[in-house]
Amino acid sequence: MKTINLSVDIIGDSSLINGKSLFRAENVPKFPPLVAKAMLYFAVQSISNGSKIDIYDPCCGNGTVLSIAATYFKNKIANLYGSDIDKESVVAAELNLDLIDEKSESQTFNSIQPYNIFEANALGVFLPKTSNDLVVVSDPPFGRVCDWKCLDEGSHGLDQFVTNMFSQNQERIVLCYDNSFEGKHILQKHYVIMNSANLKNRTIYSLRAKD
Ligand SMILES: C[S@@+](CC[C@H](N)C(=O)[O-])C[C@H]1O[C@@H](n2cnc3c(N)ncnc32)[C@H](O)[C@@H]1O
Repeated sequence: MKTINLSVDIIGDSSLINGKSLFRAENVPKFPPLVAKAMLYFAVQSISNGSKIDIYDPCCGNGTVLSIAATYFKNKIANLYGSDIDKESVVAAELNLDLIDEKSESQTFNSIQPYNIFEANALGVFLPKTSNDLVVVSDPPFGRVCDWKCLDEGSHGLDQFVTNMFSQNQERIVLCYDNSFEGKHILQKHYVIMNSANLKNRTIYSLRAKD
């Protein structure tokens, strides 16, 4: 039996959402909630008809994107999905979402139930079947602190990730990546960059599938 190691961060803005501490899995880098907030802003902004969307983060780590979605975007989101290849991350993400649910003073988080967190390899994962428009919002590994696991030999992780999404007709993706990354052409193979933003040493890309 494997022991799950988690810690609770209490210092710095990367560990707090709305004043609440977050659980963190070992080996998963902190992710600034402000970056998650900006990514979700791009995600909800892209839907013009006002209907609610579903969000899926296939590299959810500690679930920062999902926790921010549950805290600040509940009026625009119907369902939350998250997965990670790392078991500890899955546990941390579930705990963090439960924590937000539990401590929610307004109880409006219930409007985003159910959320679904599972273990999966993002490089080959099947997208959740949803009745609402699904937007993939993710902070995939880019090698500064954390790298891809189970990457096909000779493959570029981001390429394999984006190609897997495109092959399943995923229309909208918002991802963030190292701002020193010089491989925009990888994204542009299948997607048009609709918007981008630089924040905290990362670049956020809002992508729409090419026809
Ligand atoms: C940069 S971290 C994401 C951190 C996350 N935004 C958070 O708030 O904690 C990248 C995540 O990708 C996961 N990962 C690495 N290879 C993966 C793969 N092949 N499939 C799914 N997740 C993977 C790592 O376990 C890690 O949790």
